[in-house]
Amino acid sequence: MKAIIGIDLGTTYSAVATMDETGRPVIVHNADGANITPSCVVESSEGVMEVGEFARRQWGNAPETAAARFKRDMGTSSVQKINGKSFTPTQLSAFVLRKLMKDAQAALGPIAEAVITIPANFAHEAREATMAAAKAANINVNFIINEPTAAALYYAFKQGEELHGTYAVYDLGGGTFDVSIINVNGHNVEVLATNGVSKLGGDDFDSALQKLVQRKFKEQTGRDLELQEFTKNDAEDEKKALSKRPKVTTRVGRALIDLRREEFEEAISSLVTQAEMLCEATIDDAGLNVKDIRGVFLVGGSTRVPMVQESVRRVFQKEPTATANVDEVVALGAALYAAYKSDRSVLTPVQRRSIDKIIISETTSKCFGTISFSRNDARNEQRLANATLIRKGDRIPCSVTESFYTVAEGQKNVNCQVTESTAVETDPRFVKIIWEGKLELPPDRPAEQEIKITYAYDENQIMKCSFVDVATSRETKIDLSMASSNASASDVHKFLVE
Ligand SMILES: Nc1ncnc2c1ncn2[C@@H]1O[C@H](COP(=O)(O)OP(=O)(O)OP(=O)(O)O)[C@@H](O)[C@H]1O
Ligand SMILES: [Mg+2]
Repeated sequence: MKAIIGIDLGTTYSAVATMDETGRPVIVHNADGANITPSCVVESSEGVMEVGEFARRQWGNAPETAAARFKRDMGTSSVQKINGKSFTPTQLSAFVLRKLMKDAQAALGPIAEAVITIPANFAHEAREATMAAAKAANINVNFIINEPTAAALYYAFKQGEELHGTYAVYDLGGGTFDVSIINVNGHNVEVLATNGVSKLGGDDFDSALQKLVQRKFKEQTGRDLELQEFTKNDAEDEKKALSKRPKVTTRVGRALIDLRREEFEEAISSLVTQAEMLCEATIDDAGLNVKDIRGVFLVGGSTRVPMVQESVRRVFQKEPTATANVDEVVALGAALYAAYKSDRSVLTPVQRRSIDKIIISETTSKCFGTISFSRNDARNEQRLANATLIRKGDRIPCSVTESFYTVAEGQKNVNCQVTESTAVETDPRFVKIIWEGKLELPPDRPAEQEIKITYAYDENQIMKCSFVDVATSRETKIDLSMASSNASASDVHKFLVE
């Protein structure tokens, strides 16, 4: 029987999980026997790309020969260089995925399909880039799931039928911070609101600690610290040590530097405050008061930092729930989701029973709209404006239809644009165009012809967009799925009407 797996493609560490014979999600160990695999890539002397702990060490000591943290740049045109050769974030992610697959196949045999997790706040391009990486790595990915939803699913599953009410999922990983408000009823998970920032995580904590050591080193020795003397990896090691102990001493060159937890906390306090503000905004977004939240689930390795836990306690006014394996929770949830979404015939009866009661409902994490002329009759002028059809937080699946009208006599076509924004926005300069097409119109018609636009967002995070000329039923449509690669972004300077 072929295995089904969940993959958490993390900024700093990745993890793979599957469902065992007893119907429980379990981590699949990598070739080194570890539960998590560093998302770092190096080129070996034979020109082979290597991923994992070896690459992580090399990245620390000789960053120019390795790549890391590329998840932060997914969907952008940035590149990282390894030995002078440029690689896109998608290519680098594909190397990681290939390694994860190879190790998973060694442990489980052939893999039928995989679910990959994606930060809730990933924009369309970043989702596309992740799917492109999966394709390049030859992985059969039919579904993706937002990381906080996967984490929530795992916690709901783990706590069994006892979970009823509104909970928060607080995920502080290596690169991104996500917070979600969810409704749980046994195995039924409904996401009410979710927010995230992509430049807030353990990697930033490492940088802050590195700067702190730099400063202390200078004070102590009068000399500037060479980066190689205290690498990002050294910073990560000391940071982890400070989660356990109030003080550590680190050797940098010949100097011994004392690091106190309070000093580290001061160095990261603005980042922690940023996370706190996002939590408060998300509770607001869900239309709730902090008192309505029954519990908080911790996810992500950085929630092991004592100051982060204190911050969660303060914001949510309660003791958070954590597991020992906070950095595996997303992969474990993804494995559950993979089984839930699979052709159930590949599951054993026991496995089937364990996912039987799962129901998941999600909300959209972005706004989607279109650009059209809006008329100001009083001033007799027309301006381009973005009209939002689907709003952030709308329950999935959802479908919205709105009518627009042609503006010119004899108008030949309509420029169809699908826009994305983080909030409801009318100014076209502040939205991203994620798809653009044309709807041809018959000749010689008067103005004011009705064009019906429908956006239907489904459970698989595919948004079907259609632009229909009502008089002739001519239609231009596009399925914007995370799995398709035909969508491209472009600048906002085209007009709806030619
Ligand atoms: N004991 C610890 N104390 C402090 N930080 C820790 C500890 N253990 C792990 N971390 C940090 O947690 C981060 C990794 O967590 P995790 O694997 O959840 O993130 P990720 O999945 O790589 O990132 P993201 O979810 O943002 O893409 C790293 O920055 C790591 O240094
Ligand atoms: Mg993560």
